[in-house]
Amino acid sequence: MKIPSEIVQSLNEQLNRELFAQYMYLTIAAYFLERDFEGFGAFFLKQSREEGEHAMRLFKYLMEKGVPFQPLPIEIPPKNYESPLACFQASYEYEQKVTLSYYNLFKKVRDMGEYDVEEFLQWYLREQREEEALMRLWMEKVAMVKGEPTGLLFLDREARKAAEKEESEED
Ligand code: FEO
Repeated sequence: MKIPSEIVQSLNEQLNRELFAQYMYLTIAAYFLERDFEGFGAFFLKQSREEGEHAMRLFKYLMEKGVPFQPLPIEIPPKNYESPLACFQASYEYEQKVTLSYYNLFKKVRDMGEYDVEEFLQWYLREQREEEALMRLWMEKVAMVKGEPTGLLFLDREARKAAEKEESEED
């Protein structure tokens, strides 16, 4: 079954949002690595890689459905965050924005009776729930230390351990 062009366009926009997230998290990883926060850097590199995988999943689906690929420009992410907390706040806000865009698409797909696309999108709803929870958790932890260096360095070590743990579980 062919996907209606309106839905194809929305799927392409979602792919673009995932690529933007990949780029944004890469930029945030650089923010931390430039300031010697290696753990937070590793955490955001892992998040960036995952966003690339989310984009690939959409790409493969579009290819599987025989849709010609339509590349879109990727926005330049912000770079000058004022603090580590601001990085996590921006990430959490972006995850919520992405979740909302999936909700809107999911509703449209359901209303149009596009059941195959609906089934495909289920994975993203679960993934967004997990990603929002993860970003909120780290944002709250970072907020607790109120910019205090000892607290930030402790969390940096914890973030490194968390990133390494997830990497080894994926291997
Ligand atoms: Fe794949 Fe975090 O949106």
